[in-house]
Parts: sequence; structure tokens; C-alpha cells
Amino acid sequence: MNEPLFIFRGIEKSFAENEILRKVDLSLYPAKCILLSGKNGSGKTTLLKIVAGLEKPDVAEIEYAGKTNSWKKAIRSIRKEIIYLHQQPFLFSGNVESNVAYGLRFTSLNRKQCRESVIKALEWSRLSDLAKIQANTLSGGVQQRVAFTRAWILKPKVLLLDEPMSNMDQESREQAFFLLCRMKSAGMSIVITSHVPQYFYGLADVQFHLSNGKLVQSELSACNDSP
Ligand SMILES: Nc1ncnc2c1ncn2[C@@H]1O[C@H](COP(=O)(O)OP(=O)(O)O)[C@@H](O)[C@H]1O
Ligand SMILES: [Mg+2]
Repeated sequence: MNEPLFIFRGIEKSFAENEILRKVDLSLYPAKCILLSGKNGSGKTTLLKIVAGLEKPDVAEIEYAGKTNSWKKAIRSIRKEIIYLHQQPFLFSGNVESNVAYGLRFTSLNRKQCRESVIKALEWSRLSDLAKIQANTLSGGVQQRVAFTRAWILKPKVLLLDEPMSNMDQESREQAFFLLCRMKSAGMSIVITSHVPQYFYGLADVQFHLSNGKLVQSELSACNDSP
């Protein structure tokens, strides 16, 4: 297996007296997909947000590019390389095209390059026909694909998806699955939380179950908690 892109070590997190994560370790490899299962309230979202640099852990060390740092010191790198997608995609008012273009405002691309990049990304996700449609009028499943495209265009090394298929019909799930397979093939490291791990068989390489603050590797398929 390749070298990990990021290694998170000894993550600890409590909310008041409630210990959510107890010395959790997580290694993220290029072109690999981790499926994260666990009951509601077990800490999956908290873990993803810590990995994305959005929630402060009590303790954690991060190894990246040959250096080990505290979470606080690594935060710039992790925010640059890792994108977290909410369960409910947060789309801005405006059409699909402008939503997809949004993150490019913070890159060095000029207008023409941005435009070309958006066209390519919409072709990639097969959303070109919807480019001029108001994003917030689309179904939940299509909005999630717009959110995938907005992430894809920024070429993050790691993509974290929190319950990405919970609001999708079967057709949207199939299309989303296809996009996730292509992201993985392109070398992205993907972490997905789900109550329905079966949706991700064929994509996930390993499954971890979060229980009592610990991550335990499980057989792909064995865990199927009800929400
Ligand atoms: N900001 C917060 N303040 C206090 N408690 C929180 C906060 N965020 C999450 N929690 C609690 O931490 C636990 C884990 O939450 P979460 O990570 O959302 O679990 P999951 O995503 O597995 O459902 C829950 O008991 C939740 O109520
Ligand atoms: Mg959650």
C-alpha cells in the first residue's frame, strides 16, 4: 500500500463530561475509501470535523508531509487539503455553475481558466444541462452532486462525506456512487459515514465501527446499526 497522506494519532474529544473519542488513530491513504459506521451519537461527525480542521480536539497529533504537529499547527494544511461535506449540502443562492465556481475565487486561476474548469467539472459530473438552473430548486440528490462537483473542482487530497446518500433516491445514489468511484480512481482519499454501509460496497476498502469512543476495524458488511 502507498504511504498515508495524513496520519491522525491519539484523537481525544469530550463534550462536558461526555467522552466522545478516546485515543482514536486514523490513517488516510491516497485512492482508498474508508467507511465509518456507528450508532447515532457515537461521534462520527465529530471525528470528521476534527479531521477537516473544523472542530478542535482536546488532544491530537497529525503527521503530514513527513512532519508531526499538533492539530492547531496542522490546521492550515488540513484545511487546504481536506474538504468536509455536510449531510445537507449547503448551496449558495445562484445557479449550479456559480455554486461550482465558488471555491475557485480563492485560487490563482484567472476568469478564463475558472470558466474552463467549471465547464470540465460539470461535464465530469454530468450536470452541464443544469448549469443555469437555480441550485436550491433542485432535488436533494442533485444538490448533493453539485456539492461533490464543487469539492472536486478544488482537487482536495481528502474528501470527507457525512451521510452523503441519506436524502437520495436510487437514481441519485447510483450517480453519486459513480462520481465517488471516479474520485477514488483519481487518487483521492475518501472517508464516508453512513447508517447504510451497503450503499458503499464496491467503493469502500475498509470499514471502521465507532463505538464507546474507539474505532474498530470490521468486516465490510458486518455492522448495520439501526439509526
Ligand atoms: N458542539 C457540541 N456540543 C455538545 N455536545 C455535542 C456537540 N457536538 C456533538 N455533541 C455530542 O457528541 C456526541 C456525538 O455526536 P456526533 O459526532 O454528531 O455523532 P454521530 O455523527 O455519530 O451521530 C452526541 O452525543 C452529541 O450530542
Ligand atoms: Mg453525524
